[in-house]
Amino acid sequence: MPDLLGPALELVTAWAGRPVTYTPIKGGLSHHIVRVETDAGDRWLLRVLDPNVSAAGLGIPLDLEIVNTSRAAQAGVGAEVLLRLPGAMLLEYIDGPTLDAAAVRDPAMTEDIAAACRRLHAGPRFATDFSIFRKLEELLALCHAHGLKIPQGYEDRLPAVAEIEAALAVRQPPTVPCHNDLLPENFILDGSVVRIVDYQLSGNNDPAFELGDIAAEADYDREMVRRLTRAYFGDDDPAARVQLYLLMSNFTWTLWFSVHHGLLAEQAAAADFDYDAEAADKFAQAVRDLDDPGLGLLIDDVRGRRRPHDPTLPSPPATQPRPSTPATGTAPSPPPPNAPPAG
Ligand SMILES: Nc1ncnc2c1ncn2[C@@H]1O[C@H](COP(=O)(O)OP(=O)(O)O)[C@@H](O)[C@H]1O
Ligand SMILES: [Mg+2]
Repeated sequence: MPDLLGPALELVTAWAGRPVTYTPIKGGLSHHIVRVETDAGDRWLLRVLDPNVSAAGLGIPLDLEIVNTSRAAQAGVGAEVLLRLPGAMLLEYIDGPTLDAAAVRDPAMTEDIAAACRRLHAGPRFATDFSIFRKLEELLALCHAHGLKIPQGYEDRLPAVAEIEAALAVRQPPTVPCHNDLLPENFILDGSVVRIVDYQLSGNNDPAFELGDIAAEADYDREMVRRLTRAYFGDDDPAARVQLYLLMSNFTWTLWFSVHHGLLAEQAAAADFDYDAEAADKFAQAVRDLDDPGLGLLIDDVRGRRRPHDPTLPSPPATQPRPSTPATGTAPSPPPPNAPPAG
């Protein structure tokens, strides 16, 4: 990564009108994140974006990330953007613990996490749209274009993914401004309120993806998926939708790590993180769910054709509409292997 940190710190010093010191924050997977302080007790967070991440197709363009970050702040969830700098932004410092997977799995946190998502989703729309299926096509095209290693057997699963996409499309809700990358480390506890940082993959999307992605990143079991669904939607009827997106999060983000491993080796070494092993781990989790005998039930459920005797699924409301879409034959074709990235 070119030295963008030094120039950004100089601009922050000029803006602050007094000397600053800085401390790198470890934990981010993509960028230079530093805490900036003054003797007077001011404290800010400087996020210096690595242009290679966006250039490799692993994040939205920097200017759009800054726009979306400001909108998330307007929603009362993101950190306030205090200063826009070339390739960097100075943010409000959120003073509180960053969550980890155990905290996100703690049932006592579920309501607060759901409330943070609801606040974000009720805020101003983002400047970008997002679909996990289009992202999959993009990442796969990148892997093909650069001859990158992808987990063995990955593309054999694309027909099943197409069936999942077709099922989710049957009752597609309106999109809302979503974060789309809710690893535990992107939640910060601010007093008793959960805040969300890092809008690198943000875009308007189906809110059920947001929940499925949280669930995938914190390794939720079925009961926790149901709990989060209930906390967000008020009932657990969309739990099957969330569960399918959990699978899609693991499946698609496998390739995010494959691309990062293949194209950003230098950054990977600096981050001291095994991107290749993470790709294999995510794919193994996706395969576990693709091979689960209950997958067909989930697909039927999101299509609105829930089987009445399945004890693992909630009962449908009496007024549940029953779309007459056929179960098979409507799936879109899998992405063409050499399609150019979408954006
Ligand atoms: N505004 C903020 N206030 C306080 N801490 C922050 C803030 N933004 C990020 N952090 C901390 O820095 C870590 C990495 O930041 P993040 O924006 O997620 O970077 P990356 O894109 O590299 O994942 C977060 O997990 C969190 O601990
Ligand atoms: Mg992050």
